Amino acid sequence: MSDLKGKVALVTGGSRGIGRAIALKLADQGVNIAINFMRNRKAAQATVEELEAKGIKAKAYRANVGKEDELHEMFEQFEADFGKIDILISNAASGVLKPAMELTRRHWAWTMDINAATLLHLVQHSVPLMNGNGKVVAISSLGSVRAIPDYTAVGASKAALESLVRHLSVELAPKGINVNTLSAGVVDTEALKHFPERDQILENSRVRTPAGRLVTPDDVADVALFMVTDAAKMIHGATIVVDGGYSVVA
Ligand SMILES: NC(=O)c1ccc[n+]([C@@H]2O[C@H](COP(=O)([O-])OP(=O)(O)OC[C@H]3O[C@@H](n4cnc5c(N)ncnc54)[C@H](OP(=O)(O)O)[C@@H]3O)[C@@H](O)[C@H]2O)c1
Repeated sequence: MSDLKGKVALVTGGSRGIGRAIALKLADQGVNIAINFMRNRKAAQATVEELEAKGIKAKAYRANVGKEDELHEMFEQFEADFGKIDILISNAASGVLKPAMELTRRHWAWTMDINAATLLHLVQHSVPLMNGNGKVVAISSLGSVRAIPDYTAVGASKAALESLVRHLSVELAPKGINVNTLSAGVVDTEALKHFPERDQILENSRVRTPAGRLVTPDDVADVALFMVTDAAKMIHGATIVVDGGYSVVA
């Protein structure tokens, strides 16, 4: 993994949960890290301190990734601080969790925009800083291909995200850039607190997962790390599933 030393990664939503685990895993390999967050500055600061303790350069940027002007400003500061980007982890997500019958057009548009269009804008900002070589990993979920209670809009946005990844991968592979999706099974992060049926989702996942336990943020980070190494250089436009076998059970 030593090919990563001195590279620069931007991890959106890197202050907590899965994004934080990926940031720490990359930092272990000597990657300099920019994390992005939206509300919780304390958590972002704590993660930056953990990252710096690993001997790398780390910074946190507050920006709502769903807002183009805030993204623009973040990239201006990021470029001034780091000068280039080798690895983009598009991890921050949001969206409306409601039964399909309660979804409005506004809920739908906002969720699709923040989860799918954001990747497009992140990539458009990142590619000019990649100098003909880069890795993009978009974090998705099994809700892109399976029905989960209250997940209609987010699931559809994750399906759009995975399609966008395939299209981007074809356009960017000739430029030396790999674009792929990492789709995770249920991971017990703070995000799950927003699900009305959280306990049932966790229990169902534990019982149904052939590997016998839930996926952890660290499990996801291990695979993300592999996806940004040279060993993964011929993987383009793929969706790599990290779910302990959950989705292959009939
Ligand atoms: N947890 C699961 O079961 C699971 C399963 C499969 C896939 N995923 C995917 O994994 C990714 C991370 O999920 P997680 O469970 O780790 O979430 P989490 O623990 O709730 O962390 C969310 C992170 O994203 C940031 N964030 C939220 N909205 C943002 C916005 N609009 N702009 C910028 N940053 C924003 C948060 O920053 P603040 O704290 O500052 O708001 C925080 O750093 C998401 O794409 C999610 O869909 C999760």
